[in-house]
Amino acid sequence: MWHTRITEQYGLEVPFVSAGMGFIAMPELVAAVSNAGGLGLLGAAPAPATALQQMIQGIRSMTSKPFGVDFVIADTAFGPSTTDEHIEVCIAEKIKVVVFFWNNPPARWVDRLHLAGAKVWVQVGSVERARESMSLGADAIIAQGSEAGGHNHSTVALSSLVPAVVDAVAPIPVMAAGGIADGRTVASALALGAEAVCVGTRLIASQEAYAHEEYKRRVVAAGSNDIARTSIFGVEWPDQPMRVIRNRVVSEWAGRDDKTPPAPDPPQFIGRTSIGGQEMPMPKFSAVLPTPETSGDFEEMCLAAGESAGLVKDIKPAGEIVREMMDEAAKIISSKLAPMPGP
Ligand SMILES: Cc1cc2nc3c(=O)[nH]c(=O)nc-3n(C[C@H](O)[C@H](O)[C@H](O)COP(=O)(O)O)c2cc1C
Repeated sequence: MWHTRITEQYGLEVPFVSAGMGFIAMPELVAAVSNAGGLGLLGAAPAPATALQQMIQGIRSMTSKPFGVDFVIADTAFGPSTTDEHIEVCIAEKIKVVVFFWNNPPARWVDRLHLAGAKVWVQVGSVERARESMSLGADAIIAQGSEAGGHNHSTVALSSLVPAVVDAVAPIPVMAAGGIADGRTVASALALGAEAVCVGTRLIASQEAYAHEEYKRRVVAAGSNDIARTSIFGVEWPDQPMRVIRNRVVSEWAGRDDKTPPAPDPPQFIGRTSIGGQEMPMPKFSAVLPTPETSGDFEEMCLAAGESAGLVKDIKPAGEIVREMMDEAAKIISSKLAPMPGP
C-alpha cells in the first residue's frame, strides 16, 4: 500500500497521475489510469465546453474512481483554450481536481472552484512560477522538468527542480513530471520529495491513448537522443517551446527553431485530421497531434514526446503500465532504498 499526501488526500491506491495530454489523454486513457488506482487527467485542450461535458460523462461511464481535468491557459487560433464555460462545466460535473498549465489561471476561477469544493493544481516549470501558484491558492503543484514531453518552458532538470519547488512551497504537496517512465524513475522522483508522479510520454504508448499507431510506434522506437526541443510547431499557437520526436521537419529547422516559421505562401498541407468531429487539413507547422483520425506525412508532423521515450519499449494497456511502474518502484524502495537492518 502506498501512503503519500497525494494518495491520502485524493483517495488513490498509487501516487500516479496521468498527464492531461491534449488530443491524447481522452476518456479511455483517463478511466484506465483511474481504474488502476491512480488519478487520470483528461487533456481538455482544445475542446470547447460542450465537448468537455460529453468527455467527462464518457469517463464517468467507464469508472467510478476519482479523475481530474487539465486545462491549458492560452490564446490559440481555436480561441482562448479555457473559458468561464469550461470552469462552469467542471463545477456542474462536480470535478474534484482541476489542473492548469502554461499561464496562471485568473483568481476568480480558483476561487469559484474552491467554493464548489474542487482542488486546484498548477503545473509549473520554475520555482518562481510555483510561488506564484501558491499565492493564487493552488492546492498542489506539478513541477515539470525540462526533460518533459509536449509544451515545456522549464530549463531545469527534474532532479534539481523538484527539491527546490518542494522547499519553496512547503507544506503544499508537489508532484514530479518529466522523464518518468519506469519504476526506477518513479522511485527517484519520490526520493526527491515528490508526493506523486505525473506521467505523459510513457502513456502515449498505451492501448487507450488516442494517438495514431504510427505516433505510438515512433515513441517506442525513439531513444532519448531522438528528442528535440523546438518552437517550430504552432501555426495555431506560435513560438511555444515543446519537446518532440525528431523527424525531417525538426532536423531541417534545427538551429532556427526558437520561433514558429511564417506560414508558407501558398499554404502547404501535411495531412488531414478531425477535431471535434470536424474534418480539416493540417497545415505545415501545425501543433495538432496525430490521432487515429489523422492521415499524412509523419516526417512533417508534431510528435510531442519527452526524453523518457528512450525508456519506452512497448505498447500495452495503461492499467498494466501503472501497475508495472509502481510495483517496480515499490521493490526498489523496499530493497535498495530501505535502511539496512540494525545490529
Ligand atoms: C503528447 C503530450 C501532450 C501534452 N499536452 C499537455 C496538455 O494539454 N496540458 C498539460 O498540462 N500538459 C501537457 N503535456 C505535458 C504533461 O503534462 C507532462 O508535463 C509531461 O508529459 C511529463 O513528462 P513526460 O512526457 O516525460 O512524462 C503534454 C505532454 C505530452 C507528451
